[in-house]
Amino acid sequence: MTNIVETKIIDDFLTEAEIAALNDEFTKIEKQKPFVFYTQEGLLYTKTYGLSKYDPWYTNIIRPKLDIHFGKDLEIFDPHILNSYYPYGMHTDGLKSGADNVTRYPAWTFVIPLDDYESYTILFNEYDTTTKLANEYVKNNPTAKIQNQLSDEFLEKHLSHEVPELMKYFTLETMYKWKKCSCFAASRYKFHGSDFYLKNGVTMKRGIIMWGTLPLI
Ligand SMILES: [Fe+2]
Repeated sequence: MTNIVETKIIDDFLTEAEIAALNDEFTKIEKQKPFVFYTQEGLLYTKTYGLSKYDPWYTNIIRPKLDIHFGKDLEIFDPHILNSYYPYGMHTDGLKSGADNVTRYPAWTFVIPLDDYESYTILFNEYDTTTKLANEYVKNNPTAKIQNQLSDEFLEKHLSHEVPELMKYFTLETMYKWKKCSCFAASRYKFHGSDFYLKNGVTMKRGIIMWGTLPLI
């Protein structure tokens, strides 16, 4: 059975000093060549920088916090710095995200913003272990039904990069504000994505993204 883990938003995950130390270390890493992705329209989408779990950012700062909030058994995969220039659409991270490619484990997507941003990660209640894509969830899932929970105003304000017809099938669990020192962790199988932050005057947001799983019991 799929284990849908509880969503956790931890406001005081890091201290200001720890964020400063992360940014010091990451500034050096970001001098290296990033992986660069573009949208289908050719706009700059993301720049990502791979991170090592053997470096101080993890061993000295992040891992001890994960131990406190998620336990020592949590395994982390594919940590990286994300520089986002165009908002992600709604997706899941169960398949084709991270080398572990889990479909059964209790598994989280982690977001750790490296600064304050007028932007949100939007999390839906709906989940799927067989696809990353919202349109395939609607097409393939017999339990998907029109919810009409998200108002036109909400969609226009926060999700104008999404197809409104598709969004009718989803319901909002929470909106996570990208706040310095906080951490967002939600099931990898739940649909999540960025708000359309460009409308808020934000041109780029930057954070640590990683995936984690707990062993099967
Ligand atoms: Fe994701």
